[in-house]
Amino acid sequence: MADTETQRHKKLYIETVGCQMNVLDSELVVGKLRGEGYELTDDIRQADTILYNTCSVRQHAEDKIYSALGRIRRLKERRPELSIGVLGCMAQKDQDLILKRAPFVDVIVGPGQLGRVTELLDKAKAEQKPQMAVSLERTAGSRDHVTASFAEYDPLREPAMRPNAFQAFVRIMMGCDKFCTYCVVPSVRGPEQSRPAEVIVAEARQLADQGVKEITLLGQTVNSYKFQETDGRVTRLSDLLLRLHDIDGIARIKFITNFPNDMTDDLLQAVRDLPKVSRYLHVPAQSGCDEILKRMKRMYTAALYDDMLARIHATIPDASVSSDFIVGFCGETEESFEKSVRLVERARFKNSFIFKYSPRQGTKADLLFNDDVPEEVKKRRNNDLLALQSTISREDNRRLLGKTFEVLVEGPSKSAGSVEGQDGRGLGQLAGRTWCDRIVVFDGHERLIGRFVPVTIEDASSVTLFGRVLTTETISPGA
Ligand code: SAH
Ligand code: SF4
Ligand code: F3S
Repeated sequence: MADTETQRHKKLYIETVGCQMNVLDSELVVGKLRGEGYELTDDIRQADTILYNTCSVRQHAEDKIYSALGRIRRLKERRPELSIGVLGCMAQKDQDLILKRAPFVDVIVGPGQLGRVTELLDKAKAEQKPQMAVSLERTAGSRDHVTASFAEYDPLREPAMRPNAFQAFVRIMMGCDKFCTYCVVPSVRGPEQSRPAEVIVAEARQLADQGVKEITLLGQTVNSYKFQETDGRVTRLSDLLLRLHDIDGIARIKFITNFPNDMTDDLLQAVRDLPKVSRYLHVPAQSGCDEILKRMKRMYTAALYDDMLARIHATIPDASVSSDFIVGFCGETEESFEKSVRLVERARFKNSFIFKYSPRQGTKADLLFNDDVPEEVKKRRNNDLLALQSTISREDNRRLLGKTFEVLVEGPSKSAGSVEGQDGRGLGQLAGRTWCDRIVVFDGHERLIGRFVPVTIEDASSVTLFGRVLTTETISPGA
């Protein structure tokens, strides 16, 4: 076909916002497009196809995409042959609005239809009109159907698509059924479904064969994972971890994000007993106030969250725990906010992500409650909680001075730029993570990237540990 020739030279530019699910989705979309002859470019002006993989969780994430679309409007006017696509959660939530605000967009593809991006790009070109695909049509039916839908969702992985060769995300669940009242995710990602354990294990094996050492299992509430096998047995996350643990080559396993009520003892014991599993648990609390938690429909109280934390620390004494908080949710008084402050003080999280409540159309909270906390109050509470968390993180990090941790070296430190840029011999600042997911920055040779090395901590800020590698490579880089 004539098209094949032209496509061979197609240049693809993609921008991704949102959570790790989106990062993985973009990897898969790019993998598919590369298979069709596209090549990636970092330079938007060089691109023939521009894709935005979007997020709807807060207004700010959506605004970012509308401004990006505003910026490329001119580009499209000058080069009408340019293909522009909006993918992911915003495409799902607001397909008509996107087309209204950016009528020059060629494809709008929801998270359930990403396997069709190339086909839709071609169709948009052939028919000279925008194409939309936003069905979340998924299964719940037969087992074969479940497997097939996941196969479509998670096609075979290409090593070249990952940010580095030794780390990979693995989706173990899609969707969410928790319906927290503020959250748009269940409506844009569809119902919760657990991927068959054997398919996950096969994917992890394949990744290990490709040289992946660390896998991060993804699910909106990853610890709610449950897959019913044909013989009726149920595979829980703890069972899955055990099976993944057996895979040669996989050295570290992480999983995000956890729902507090599903932090069961069997899971905590698995984290304690399986040395390859990272002792890091991200378990968002969202608030420390019972009335607010109830309004959010989180289905636990602050006391229950405390109990869960106590169980974590009793079972895995060296575990690190991180959290998310929403400040300024509907009806949050100074008193209710203070309760979140108290929870942060009690819990001493490794870190917390703090968000100002952003009303999302169509959610229960938006329908039932008033967004009654003024923006400047939200801002102040956000800053206050963040400042408190930073103080705690810094204090706890400084307790680690002098200790030595095993770190998986991920690459050049972001602040340092490229390793090569630092020193012609490949010496420079590297960054990696400990078994408790703490970021460590240290000087080292680039050949350490992708390896586990012992690092002794010499300094610490609230977000970063600074250390020195205990290997001959650092002492004698040329050796
Ligand atoms: N599935 C994960 C996280 C989903 S979204 C979980 O349940 O923990 C990531 C974070 O965004 C949430 O933990 C929450 O803190 C925040 N968030 C979700 N909806 C929001 C909204 N409408 N406004 C502000 N923050 C929100
Ligand atoms: Fe959203 Fe709640 Fe589901 Fe997390 S658990 S994705 S916050 S509805
Ligand atoms: Fe955003 Fe969708 Fe993830 S709304 S947080 S990209 S699931």
